[in-house]
Amino acid sequence: MSDLRIVHFPHPALRWKSKDVTRIDAQLKDWIAQMFELMYEARGIGLAANQVGLPYRLFVINPSADPAEKELEQVFINPQIIKRNGSEDAEEGCLSLPEIYGPVTRAERITVEAFDLSGENFAYELGGIHARVVQHESDHLDGVMFTDRIDAAALAELQPLLDDMTAQMKRQQHEGQLASDDELRAELQRLQAARTDD
Ligand code: NI
Repeated sequence: MSDLRIVHFPHPALRWKSKDVTRIDAQLKDWIAQMFELMYEARGIGLAANQVGLPYRLFVINPSADPAEKELEQVFINPQIIKRNGSEDAEEGCLSLPEIYGPVTRAERITVEAFDLSGENFAYELGGIHARVVQHESDHLDGVMFTDRIDAAALAELQPLLDDMTAQMKRQQHEGQLASDDELRAELQRLQAARTDD
């Protein structure tokens, strides 16, 4: 696969329920390095694999959004949120929904387990922006976007922007700049089959 790029709503990769990663190899590490680059270019703090068209359960974060702060980079492979406490509202955005923001209720504190790039299992208790970004990115792996979690009134306000994005993608597909939904899904299936036992 050539260079990755961030896909935008309503690309079918964003509705994909991804499968667990079964091996950490050079290819996966290269993809993860590209994901960090794309995330920084877009000034994001988190990026899930399906946002770059890869149907695998992993995401990268750096709550500082600053590539100079390498020590804050984290890779979560096969993450599982095993505990959620409290509740907090805050505005969220998403690199797959540029310039769209809305209020989302999330757990205030979470405990998350995952594997790192060396295949080591780890568990963190997180709060604040850290807990929020991990919940947002974990949702992506299940094909859930933050717009699925905002209330009807806020969604109604955003709907014209979402409709514009849908129209833009249809136009790109019609003009042949982007493959059809069926072709995009077939590619996701192929990538999934190449790295899982299914
Ligand atoms: Ni997102």
